[in-house]
Amino acid sequence: MDGPKEASSSVEIDDLSLSRLLNKPKLNIERQRSFDERSLSELSINVRALEGYDSIYSPAGYRSGFDTPSTARNSFEPHPMVAEAWDSLRRSLVHFRGQPVGTIAANDHGSEEILNYDQVFVRDFVPSALAFSMNGEPEIVKNFLLKTLHLQGWEKKIDRFTLGEGVMPASFKVLHDPGRKTDTLIADFGESAIGRVAPVDSGFWWIILLRAYAKSTGDLSLAETHECQKGMRLILALCLSEGFDTFPTLLCADGCSMIDRRMGIYGYPIEIQALFFMALRCALPMLKHDAEGKEFVERIVKRLHALSYHMRSYFWLDFQQLNDIYRYKTEEYSHTAVNKFNVIPDSIPDWVFDFMPTRGGYFIGNVSPARMDFRWFALGNLVAILSSLATPEQSMAIMDLIEERWEELVGEMPLKITYPAIENHEWRIVTGCDPKNTRWSYHNGGSWPVLLWLLTAACIETGRPQIARRAIELAENRLLKDGWPEYYDGKLGRYIGKQARKFQTWSIAGYLVAKMMLEDPSHLGMVSLEEDKAMKPLIKRSNSWTC
Ligand code: GLC
Repeated sequence: MDGPKEASSSVEIDDLSLSRLLNKPKLNIERQRSFDERSLSELSINVRALEGYDSIYSPAGYRSGFDTPSTARNSFEPHPMVAEAWDSLRRSLVHFRGQPVGTIAANDHGSEEILNYDQVFVRDFVPSALAFSMNGEPEIVKNFLLKTLHLQGWEKKIDRFTLGEGVMPASFKVLHDPGRKTDTLIADFGESAIGRVAPVDSGFWWIILLRAYAKSTGDLSLAETHECQKGMRLILALCLSEGFDTFPTLLCADGCSMIDRRMGIYGYPIEIQALFFMALRCALPMLKHDAEGKEFVERIVKRLHALSYHMRSYFWLDFQQLNDIYRYKTEEYSHTAVNKFNVIPDSIPDWVFDFMPTRGGYFIGNVSPARMDFRWFALGNLVAILSSLATPEQSMAIMDLIEERWEELVGEMPLKITYPAIENHEWRIVTGCDPKNTRWSYHNGGSWPVLLWLLTAACIETGRPQIARRAIELAENRLLKDGWPEYYDGKLGRYIGKQARKFQTWSIAGYLVAKMMLEDPSHLGMVSLEEDKAMKPLIKRSNSWTC
């Protein structure tokens, strides 16, 4: 039924995305965004881009703000925290045989319990990688990509069970033996992690980073190597494999992503679905078109269509949609069912009726038979904006929601990882009485400074840099003074987290990335994918946010 359309869209996507990857990032003026506070330096960078000097493509030694008129420089006097942040970030570097290969999760000398915070986590390294790339130091990113690729090739076993070939590690560690003068690696694919869950997000972040590297250096040769092509295909093979699924979303265990403890996100968590979508879109233009590559391209295009349809239809919640679910009939059978997953309206939690503004909306946490997790998760929603999983209207609505519910979602420290917290009986059942995830702490409604870079990127993408400025200002009031905590606790995020590490690297790098992106929005190209015309929304949801 969709045959001819599918074929043409595959060509379109190929052409479009390839040229996009190779071309200079789209200019902000071209994007026709309402940069109500567009800075002089931003404009000057656009002019440089027009002249063919797009900063993002001058690899070595580039510092954002470089060569901009002095008036522009004045409007961006570096905040004193920036230099401190760079020092701390550099102190977190991890070397393997003399080469920097990553950054340690936390450099907290005051902490008694190191656990695995002395390791290089794949997800934690992403903001570090972006910061170094933006600063014209992409070598470490290349080293990291190759080192983790090498680790992917290891045999991965938990007890007597062998994990999928494509699984990327959650983290790795370099063991230095000063006596023998040797460096060796150990890696964790879930077999040491608390809870023994493999990180589904690592492979996606790896692909996203590979594209970011290509985009920022203009060098596609790394992605084109046999090793990288193989690594990508192994990851794709894992998540595109056929099974018993009736949905295009990816079925996951609890704790398989940034939220790496039991938090009731098993099933089809938004974080993984958004990263899945983004990784598929990033892989598309990087895959070589040999026989195997072509087959992957076809499967990706089909999956992207199905996934965006599913997410935009069933995960999306706004005032209108909430009202529709509230009035759902249940026990419908056959293709004509409106309430396809048989969600019982009584299962809608009370808080969501108050939380939902008239303007605004978001992708909810999870959808599966008779279960909708109405919680807000920041990472998934922000990645949905950056990857264009969200339609332009949905992206605007997510930003509207953040503005309308500022106190709840941002409070005094950006940004709540999830909202609201679960408490009492529900906390007991859902977290298994996890003492680290008590209400408004850690993964259970805690505030994570690392999310600032994603918020900033989404703000620029949607033409609302003023929201990012507000958030960065909040972070600047506290982060350095508090020693760059991993997370904050409390309804407003006012308290340094109960068990938060200090000098948490991604809190530091996330701040730097946010600052650099705001200063030079052309950096956004590294982590954003414009809406693909071939994937134009197949459905139009309610337009409640426009009224
Ligand atoms: C915590 C976080 C996880 C992070 C790790 C290292 O386990 O939940 O997302 O990767 O710390 O910082």
